[in-house]
Amino acid sequence: MTPAERGSGDADFRSDTVTRPCAAMRAAMAAAVVGDDVLGDDPTVLRLQERVAAQCGMEAALFVPSGTMGNQVAVKLHTQPGEELICEERSHVWVNEAGGLGLISGVQTKTLAAPSGCPEPAAIEAAIRDEDVHHPRTALVVIENTHNYAGGRVVPLPRLAAIRAVARRRGLKLHLDGARLWNAVVATKTPIARFAAEVDTLTFCFSKGLGCPVGSMLVGSRRDIERARRIRKALGGGMRQVGILAAAAEFALDHLVERLADDHARARRLATAFAALPGCRVDPATVETNIVFVERPAADAGELERRLAAAGVRAIALAADRLRFVTHRDVGDGEVARAIEAMEMATRALAAPAGRD
Ligand SMILES: Cc1ncc(COP(=O)(O)O)c(C=O)c1O
Repeated sequence: MTPAERGSGDADFRSDTVTRPCAAMRAAMAAAVVGDDVLGDDPTVLRLQERVAAQCGMEAALFVPSGTMGNQVAVKLHTQPGEELICEERSHVWVNEAGGLGLISGVQTKTLAAPSGCPEPAAIEAAIRDEDVHHPRTALVVIENTHNYAGGRVVPLPRLAAIRAVARRRGLKLHLDGARLWNAVVATKTPIARFAAEVDTLTFCFSKGLGCPVGSMLVGSRRDIERARRIRKALGGGMRQVGILAAAAEFALDHLVERLADDHARARRLATAFAALPGCRVDPATVETNIVFVERPAADAGELERRLAAAGVRAIALAADRLRFVTHRDVGDGEVARAIEAMEMATRALAAPAGRD
């Protein structure tokens, strides 16, 4: 392993975005045949886009720099300023995209609470505005699969199909934020095309569990993707010799999809171990993919994060009472064992009566 691949040496569970490209991925990037993709002639990007569209059973795909840009372009495609979209209240597109919905598309948002991360179809239908001069027009539903802040929960295909039926009946578009859709594909052994068949557009990321340094895909109809190309340009997302990044994405699709199952097994191992620790609330049964949330009713997640970091184990306190661990390609069985040991030490110390630490 080179120093660049090895990184800091910490067992880093903060996110699946922290992976570093391995030597074989770097070799594929170095060997990429490239052109100017804004002029439409980077052969590696064109090949990747065609491959992904075919894999999804959709007409076209567009390589974008990030999941955020893919989502924001999709919202812009499907809405007009002053309209409304419906999503779950912890959705990335609403919480974590820097206000892009208002900034870029001028839309407002109706959020729904759903512990699993995916609202009931009936709740979505009830949230659609009546045809009334006082109301915004509801234009779009955004579903996140897997759902990050719900702990990597999968939105099962029948639920997505039922939401699609509501959207069709009521004249709404449906966008799938599938930043981690490949995790759902592997966890449920469902081909990606079956998820794609239920939506108008979807995004997925290469830069998370698939281990690439950069890159996401927006997939949809030919007409939508042609328009999306112009919106991407307006947002500054037109990239030139970007076949270098597309080559990493091709490498990931060839070699790194099936291994997501290892991440899921390791996440379950973490969850099972953490559930037995003092002051930790974890339900291993809800760990379906690569994300584990540890609830700390004592609201000491920040202190726990600091103690773990001092022991060389990185996790993220996303709230005072929630610590997140994400498994990925750069954490193996050894890192999982280190995380469990560090959590045992830190949670015991925090549970000890004051002064005994
Ligand atoms: C569910 C979800 N959607 C979208 C994104 C955005 O991806 P990016 O960081 O590439 O903009 C993320 C990133 O973590 C995510 O978790």
